[in-house]
Amino acid sequence: MMPRTPEPELMDEVEQVQAYAYANFEAPHGRFIELLEQRLGPARPQGRALDLGCGPGDITYRFAQQRPRWSVEAIDGASTMIAWAKQDPRFTRAAGQIDFVCARLPNWEPTESRFDLVLSNSLVHHLSDPLDLWRAVQKCAAPNAKVFVMDLQRPEEPCALQTLVEKYAGDEPAILKRDFEASLHAAYRIEEIVEQLEATRLAHLTVEEVSDRHWIAHGTVHSPSSTVSSA
Ligand SMILES: C[S@@+](CC[C@H](N)C(=O)[O-])C[C@H]1O[C@@H](n2cnc3c(N)ncnc32)[C@H](O)[C@@H]1O
Repeated sequence: MMPRTPEPELMDEVEQVQAYAYANFEAPHGRFIELLEQRLGPARPQGRALDLGCGPGDITYRFAQQRPRWSVEAIDGASTMIAWAKQDPRFTRAAGQIDFVCARLPNWEPTESRFDLVLSNSLVHHLSDPLDLWRAVQKCAAPNAKVFVMDLQRPEEPCALQTLVEKYAGDEPAILKRDFEASLHAAYRIEEIVEQLEATRLAHLTVEEVSDRHWIAHGTVHSPSSTVSSA
């Protein structure tokens, strides 16, 4: 089994942000929204969502468009990412609906601690302590809020990793290919995610493998006083 190799937490180099923002994530980001809506079931008409590690905001904008009466707070520790998200042509259309904030886990104090949904894509593999993500979920969720997290899974062997790099980033700019390879090395395996959830009172979430490189974790965040069996 290939051991995990961490990668730098923040993506703050201008070239790196540019390459990431211009990459074609139509398939995985479209799938993120599709799976979120399928797995979490009918959404209330209005609510407040939190996007952790939003990067240049593509998923944030897709979510906001999908749920026009929801407001979204989207945070990222990289100021270059947040600046990029705010320059997106979709920002004007989403004015008043999305608040992009430059803030880094775990040293971030939410202005609002009662979010109805916490979502996150491809953040957990960047964190030096992955429990920071799950603790933030616990801290910010309203009673019975929903959570939906997607990320990469580390392949078992180096040759499987190289196959994924060529398949999904073979024709991409070198910097994007480098980052994808590093992300696969830094990604957690599903059994490690299950251990993280057990350590943060989130063991009742459902964890599923949904592609040759992605897993999702989703469900309801119970308030501290409720029991798992009341889900
Ligand atoms: C791979 S990108 C994913 C961006 C976005 N969620 C997406 O799917 O396109 C990971 C993001 O997490 C941010 N990040 C990493 N560590 C962080 C931390 N401790 N607090 C906040 N953001 C962090 C990085 O700066 C980067 O923008």
